[in-house]
Amino acid sequence: MIVPGSSAQSLAARLAAETGRQLATPTFDRFPDGETCAAVPDFAGDTAVIVAATTSNDALVELLQLQDAVREAGATDVTTVLSYMGYARQDRAFTEGQPVSARAVARAVSTGTDRVVLVDPHEPTVAEFYDAATTTVSAGRRLAEPLGELTEPVFLAPDEGAVSLAERVRDAYGRGTTDYFRKERDYDTGDVQVDPGDTSVTGRDVVVVDDIVATGSTMSEAVAALRDRDPGRIVTCCVHPMLVGNARTKLAAAGVDRVIGTDTVECASSTVSVAPVIADVL
Ligand code: R5P
Repeated sequence: MIVPGSSAQSLAARLAAETGRQLATPTFDRFPDGETCAAVPDFAGDTAVIVAATTSNDALVELLQLQDAVREAGATDVTTVLSYMGYARQDRAFTEGQPVSARAVARAVSTGTDRVVLVDPHEPTVAEFYDAATTTVSAGRRLAEPLGELTEPVFLAPDEGAVSLAERVRDAYGRGTTDYFRKERDYDTGDVQVDPGDTSVTGRDVVVVDDIVATGSTMSEAVAALRDRDPGRIVTCCVHPMLVGNARTKLAAAGVDRVIGTDTVECASSTVSVAPVIADVL
């Protein structure tokens, strides 16, 4: 059975349809003290594929509860699909005394599963933190599908870390070049500055590709820097459209009317499904 976490219900339903597996209907309750209780009253069989986006601490605890609930109900083969792995950006201790949060999360998730599938984790190396067998898949090919006809496209990563994703989108699109901006973030203010260097975009359609759009600072700064260079169309896309706080306003102020995002996290920008990519490895 496919077992959805509360933050990945649409993706789980699409995955069930894609794979022909049954879809469980968990319940998500909360006790008066705030503790969560995720249950799977209709679980049947011995194989569970739990689909979760750990976009919050509650979602992470809920995932651990779903893993335990299906074991309790008789599952002997549990796969955990993390469509979005929270804490993947904390892949090392950046200052003395900090935890490696991605490792702590990976260890916790590993205790309740036989296998993990990650969709474009921010740092691919976090896969090594899991004790369970882990497969990483990329939504890159899916992001290429809605792009339509582009003129001399350049697939641009707003920082070096997103270049391989931009290359995957370019490869799936079938033509174009890739490039990236240099980025600096002030971690006190959250402000982002991008340096376009000698990236040539004049008259060309630009597809800005990032793994995550969270506060929208990176994407809006990248688009603002591009506009000074007289490009053709600018298309923005990402795997995980977190869009927290005032991200939509920031993007709109930068002239971004739409971010093409996937359903690894659920929001109005989740217009592309990663279900086929996940189905391929189940
Ligand atoms: C950072 O390296 C990531 O690839 C994204 O660029 C970043 O997480 C986006 O965050 P924000 O939208 O807050 O700038």
